[in-house]
Amino acid sequence: MINLLPEFWYLATLSSALTVGRAVPVTLLEQELLLVRAGDGAVHAYADRCPHRGMRLRHGTCDGEALQCAYHGWRFRLDTGRCTSIPALTETDMIEPASFGLRVFPCREVQGNIWVFMGTQTDPSLLPSVPRVPGFDLAAPQISATMRFACEADVATMGFFDPGHPAFVHTSRWWKHKPATSLRPKEKTFEPDALGFRMQRHHLRHGANPYRLLGRNVHVDVTIQLPGLRIEHIQGDRHSACVLAATTPVTATTTDVHYRLYWTMGWLAPLKPLARWMTREFLRQDQEIADKLDASDAPYPPAMFVGDADAQIRWFVNVKKEYIASRSEQRPFVNPLRDQVLRWRS
Ligand code: FES
Ligand SMILES: [Fe+2]
Repeated sequence: MINLLPEFWYLATLSSALTVGRAVPVTLLEQELLLVRAGDGAVHAYADRCPHRGMRLRHGTCDGEALQCAYHGWRFRLDTGRCTSIPALTETDMIEPASFGLRVFPCREVQGNIWVFMGTQTDPSLLPSVPRVPGFDLAAPQISATMRFACEADVATMGFFDPGHPAFVHTSRWWKHKPATSLRPKEKTFEPDALGFRMQRHHLRHGANPYRLLGRNVHVDVTIQLPGLRIEHIQGDRHSACVLAATTPVTATTTDVHYRLYWTMGWLAPLKPLARWMTREFLRQDQEIADKLDASDAPYPPAMFVGDADAQIRWFVNVKKEYIASRSEQRPFVNPLRDQVLRWRS
């Protein structure tokens, strides 16, 4: 199901990757972009092509006020993307540089991440809100990891809500002992939620080790949203934590998978290197299995979604189909899901 969904916010990079005076090239949904932090701290995203003759702006210079193209020196204001100077013109040319400009994409900095809206809509009042984890408004993530997967975005996204795979793929000593030999029956209640669904808040009885750091009485809820977002909110009696997982299609068959961990346990700072290693290890295991799944040079059998264990994947596919249909038929999206209890072993 290869469909790059436009008109969504996509996580592009970490806030810390953008410093004044250094433009950062990225590719999102097959579109080459240039991300820039202006001297006033604001962040901006532009199509990485000069409107004059198509030079990539990444080869030019950026001084916190303007970008200058490497080819003929046209300058562009960072805040509007409009051209301010065309060095080769004389007074006899009755040409207004500001009539030329870069293609600007809406760009926001939220909770330590840079998000870009990949669509045609640029009116701020008509843009959807940028995804957020609850309760960490001014915080940057304590742990962040991004890895590039050699698969289409949906395959990477399905790993976010595929309860049948962790016992076989995420088999580290620190995460779950005795892989696949200690599967327990699970029962979770789900409800439709905006462009996706939500695993309702539930008490964590047999939590994996890291969850115990939050205290007793730990509750979890998980929200899944198009285009490829998973937000897990974990609340204990002493602390809370959130895990934001987001997929960003680079091309139709290459995907950046981002994990961002937020927590309130200040005393955990010395353990950050270990937590970072664990997060990367977790992501690497998914990356490795996606690599093995790649069948680009072999016939690929149609995917099966079997039983409740695969129900969330089936739902995601259905929500996406309905979203695409609603857009092409120019009608409101109607979430096809209903409240449901799922049972599986994991
Ligand atoms: S291509 Fe950029 S100034 Fe000519
Ligand atoms: Fe996984």
